[in-house]
Amino acid sequence: MPFTPQIIYLDSVPSTNTEAARRAQAGAPEGVTVVANEQTAGRGRLDRHWVSPPNAGLYASIVFRPALKLELWTLIPLMAAVSVREALIDSCDLDTDIKWPNDIITGERKLCGILAETIDTKIGRAAILGIGINLTSAAFPAPLRDVATSVEEATGKTPNRESLLNSLLSAVESRYEELHSGDGGAKIIAKWTANSSYANGKKVLVTSEEMSFEGLTRGLERDGALRVETDNGETIIVRAGDVARLRSSVRD
Ligand code: BTN
Repeated sequence: MPFTPQIIYLDSVPSTNTEAARRAQAGAPEGVTVVANEQTAGRGRLDRHWVSPPNAGLYASIVFRPALKLELWTLIPLMAAVSVREALIDSCDLDTDIKWPNDIITGERKLCGILAETIDTKIGRAAILGIGINLTSAAFPAPLRDVATSVEEATGKTPNRESLLNSLLSAVESRYEELHSGDGGAKIIAKWTANSSYANGKKVLVTSEEMSFEGLTRGLERDGALRVETDNGETIIVRAGDVARLRSSVRD
């Protein structure tokens, strides 16, 4: 069945991801998209909190029922990052970068985060894709000003949430279809790589629960994991954790 977006607008929910998962458990079809004005318990990657005050961000979660080999499911959040990037160009005329695995950044400050979760439902496994875009700088607390930004700050214009959501769903529809096509995984990896300054040759600090190390990025594995070459020439495949840019010189 083709991906058909069906938007459900709510005022305030703990988390649109939790609400979309609840609806998927109850049989919601692929394409159901829960959007809220506010989240009172928004969730981020690595068990972090996602601050979501009223009308300051686009908080949306999409239900997918992918007809994909399981090894391609890890590419869903990367496909989403590529889609958000396209939607920001289309709706807000804003060019952004993608930081591994799926943060959307501009000027090295984060504008959007993506949280993908898989759940088992009575009619099969589903993926819930949560997207949080800072529309105005009221979306994040003042102490995060050095590391976060918003569409309004980046463009000097107040974005239209509905227009951005429509662009986003239309980009998701195209990229999701592409992921299902022949060689779909390779096509999404290629698009991600072409649009991320983090894909190759970026000096980064990798931090995860198990380790912390520095190295140069060397592209993505077929499942979206990041290859990082350390100073001693060893290549480490990173599947979880955070990546931060390191300056290689004072001019960087
Ligand atoms: C990250 O840590 O970067 C991911 C943040 C994801 C936030 C979005 S907002 C809509 C959806 N609902 C949630 O509770 N989280 C995601």
